[in-house]
Amino acid sequence: MQELGRASGAHGEVVLRRRGAVTELIVDGVFAMDDVDTSTERALATEALRRCTGDALRVLVGGLGLGWTAATVLADPRVTEADVVELQPALVGWAGEGLLPGLPVLPDRLRLRTADVADALAGSPGRWDAVLLDVDNGPAFLVHETNAGLYAEPGLSTALAALRPGGVLAIWSADPAPELADRLAALPGAADVEHLVLPVDRDGRRFDYAVVVARRAG
Ligand SMILES: C[S@@+](CC[C@H](N)C(=O)[O-])C[C@H]1O[C@@H](n2cnc3c(N)ncnc32)[C@H](O)[C@@H]1O
Repeated sequence: MQELGRASGAHGEVVLRRRGAVTELIVDGVFAMDDVDTSTERALATEALRRCTGDALRVLVGGLGLGWTAATVLADPRVTEADVVELQPALVGWAGEGLLPGLPVLPDRLRLRTADVADALAGSPGRWDAVLLDVDNGPAFLVHETNAGLYAEPGLSTALAALRPGGVLAIWSADPAPELADRLAALPGAADVEHLVLPVDRDGRRFDYAVVVARRAG
């Protein structure tokens, strides 16, 4: 195993390491992800963007990780502004050094910054065509307990309010999250809520990941 980076800060320790051809990210002692199969991280972006209409799309991504969702957003030529918000400053630094397998080069259209996505959402009402959240292993398996509010009614309302009317919110989960879809559907600001189950085969075992999608009503 090769350690590519290790750093500690206000939000715990973050470790980037390579095991053979696979890159792994450990956040605050919790396995956050690897790149054995990144289809669902990429689907988080494609499923949201195919529901967006128009050009000159502004997209907010919460959670840089290994960069796969951000790279998929940037691969869509309609996206003119991609704002990626990451809690761990070390990860942002490693991205600048080209250490992230999903995002080896940082394009001009990318704005990458260190912040809590909850603050980014609260500070940008009505701004985004799409908001993509992948900051935990899902609402039932948090990397940081402080993220719990993102999946509760007030946090979901803030995320919807950060969208322009008709904009799309998409949330990744390592498990099916029907309760999250139900919670969103009950919000007055939400429309067209969908719970997408995305099967992945790993080592001969099937895992059901999920992306919950909703549109800001109006
Ligand atoms: C599973 S990874 C994201 C994977 C990413 N979708 C990809 O394609 O590689 C989760 C990331 O969210 C970050 N994170 C966790 N809580 C956050 C928060 N409140 N605000 C911003 N980033 C956060 C973690 O540090 C980690 O980098």
